[in-house]
Amino acid sequence: MKISEQIKEPILEEMELFEEKFSGAMSSKVALFNRITYYIVRRKGKQMRPMFVFLTAKMVGEGKVNERTYRGASVIELIHTATLVHDDVVDDSNMRRGFFSINALWKNKIAVLVGDYLLSKGLLLSIDHGDFDLLKIISVAVREMSEGELLQIEKARKLDITEEVYYEIIRQKTATLIAACCAMGAQSVNVSEEEVARMQKFGELIGMAFQIKDDLFDYGTERIGKPTGIDIKEQKMTLPLIYTLNHCSKKEKSWLINSIKNHNKDKKRVKEVIAFVKDNGGLEYAVQRMHEFQKEALSLIADYPASPYKEALELMVNYVIDRKK
Ligand code: IPE
Ligand code: IPE
Ligand code: MG
Ligand code: MG
Repeated sequence: MKISEQIKEPILEEMELFEEKFSGAMSSKVALFNRITYYIVRRKGKQMRPMFVFLTAKMVGEGKVNERTYRGASVIELIHTATLVHDDVVDDSNMRRGFFSINALWKNKIAVLVGDYLLSKGLLLSIDHGDFDLLKIISVAVREMSEGELLQIEKARKLDITEEVYYEIIRQKTATLIAACCAMGAQSVNVSEEEVARMQKFGELIGMAFQIKDDLFDYGTERIGKPTGIDIKEQKMTLPLIYTLNHCSKKEKSWLINSIKNHNKDKKRVKEVIAFVKDNGGLEYAVQRMHEFQKEALSLIADYPASPYKEALELMVNYVIDRKK
C-alpha cells in the first residue's frame, strides 16, 4: 500500500463524506463561479489539511468526529483553495496541480474574485452554524497568511532577509493554516484548551517543515504539478539562498544579490544562481532544518497512547518531508 493510502486508511469514511460536503459548500447562483469551482473540485490537491483535521480530531477525541469536524475541514480546504488561487496571481504562476492555474485560464480579474468568493464561503460556513470557536481559529490564520505573503513581498523588494525573518514569513503564510487544522480538529471534539494549544503547536511545526520542503522543490527539476525555479524569478528569498548568502565571500554575495535584483528574468543567470546555491550546501542546510522541525513536531504527540490515528499522523509528518509533490 502507498504511504498516502496508509495515512488515509483510518479516515476513509470521513474523507469520502468530506469530498461531498466540500464540493457542495462551493455552489453559487452565478454560472461562471460554478464552472470554475467545478474545475477546481476536479483537479483536487493532496487534501492534506482536511486529513490533519480528521486525524487530530480522532486521535484526541478517542476515534470520534462530528459535524463540526466536517465543517472545520471544509472551511480549511475552502480557505486553502482561495489562497492558492490568489497566490498564483501574486506569484504570476500559470500552473497548479498539474494543469493551468485559474489566472492562466480566466485571467487575474476573475481569479481575484474567485479567491474572495471561496474565502467568504468558508467563513460563512462557520458563521451559519454558530461555530464561533472554530471561526476564531481560522480567522487568525487568514490574517496571518496575508501578512506573511505581504512580508515576503516587502523582503523581495529589499533583498535583506535574515533566516529569522524567513521563518516568520513561512510561519505566517503556511504554518498557521496547518496549525489551524490541528487546533480545529481538537477543538471540534471539545477537548481542553491546553490540548488544543498543543495540537496547534504540533501543526505549526509540521507547517514549517512543509514550507521548507515546498521551497526545496523550487530548486529541483522534478515535475510537481506547478512550476519550479520561479522563486528567484519572483525575487523570493528562501532558506537555501539565505543560507548561501550568509556563507559565501563578499564578492560572491554581491554577484548573487546583483543577479536576483537585476537579472532575475534571465534564465541562464537564474540557473547559475541555483547551481551556486546547490554547490554551497544551501539545500543540505534547508533539509537539516526541515528535519529539526519534523522531530520537534513528533515529540509533541509522543505521549499519546498508541492508536491507528496517532500512527497515521506520524506517517503524515514523515510524508510532509518525503513527498514527491
Ligand atoms: C501548496 O499547498 C501551498 C503551500 C503552502 C506550499 P499544498 O502542497 O498542500 O497544495 P495542494 O492542495 O496539494 O495542491
Ligand atoms: C505558499 O507559498 C503559498 C501560500 C501560503 C498561499 P508558495 O508561493 O511557495 O506556494 P506555491 O509553491 O505557489 O504552492
Ligand atoms: Mg506561489
Ligand atoms: Mg512554492
